[in-house]
Amino acid sequence: MNTVKSLSELDKNALESKVKAMYVAVAENPEKEYHFEMGRKVAIKLGYDIDDLNNIPEPAVDSFAGVGCYFPMAGIRSGEKVLDLGSGSGMDAFIAKLKTGEKGEVVGIDMTTAQLGKAAQLAEENQIEKVSFIKSYIESLPLKENTFDVVISNGVINLSPDKPKVFKEITRVLKKGGRMAISDIVTERQMPASITCDATLWAACIGGAMQEDEYFAAIENSGLKITKIIQNPEYQFISKSAISASKKYGVKSISVLAEKA
Ligand SMILES: C[S@@+](CC[C@H](N)C(=O)[O-])C[C@H]1O[C@@H](n2cnc3c(N)ncnc32)[C@H](O)[C@@H]1O
Repeated sequence: MNTVKSLSELDKNALESKVKAMYVAVAENPEKEYHFEMGRKVAIKLGYDIDDLNNIPEPAVDSFAGVGCYFPMAGIRSGEKVLDLGSGSGMDAFIAKLKTGEKGEVVGIDMTTAQLGKAAQLAEENQIEKVSFIKSYIESLPLKENTFDVVISNGVINLSPDKPKVFKEITRVLKKGGRMAISDIVTERQMPASITCDATLWAACIGGAMQEDEYFAAIENSGLKITKIIQNPEYQFISKSAISASKKYGVKSISVLAEKA
């Protein structure tokens, strides 16, 4: 599989440092230029509901670095318990909280302290209750099995060096009948080592993108059943190197809905 082959050549620690550095910058300096678009403008382009964006803390929207809008397919209901993997500065977690209402609960997970701290501070300052943020790797969740109604994640799993493990963890923590709704980057064609071993392109959500058939197989092998896949052509990379890799290998954003039987 492309991730295994590439990671034998790419040092995992170097990769983690690069990914963390990129997302510290995203949390602290959202106005700077990155390989990808960020903030309210891209959220609107991807189809986020403007009322939702207006009803959550603005700094979370400014640091949004997701790649699609899975909320319509997620169908999050009042009272549900939602887990957001790679919650970043908290935009999707806060929107999920709007949908779960007073009785619902949202937990965000992220490995980057600056992202986590920003999201937690925004929740506190804005007195948003029943939203918590936990520092952890998404490959090894400090959470009990059969706990969540919905697992969401936006632009994150492509960054993981062990995607099958992430999907197994999602399946483990979902309740029976629970669903996974994610947006992520995948690739149509296998990419060469010059891209998969470029830690900067990996941190930019390109180098780690898995070939789509392998990605779908990893989801289904974890025990989930895919019920819907949509493409998000509105999502575009903006740096030259990212655009070139994206055109050549069909790097693209998709949203996937899957259920735990
Ligand atoms: C592209 S950002 C997306 C953040 C957020 N979902 C959003 O839409 O704005 C990726 C986030 O995933 C986190 N992340 C990446 N790999 C991770 C891992 N293996 N475990 C936990 N968090 C991870 C990063 O720290 C970063 O905050």
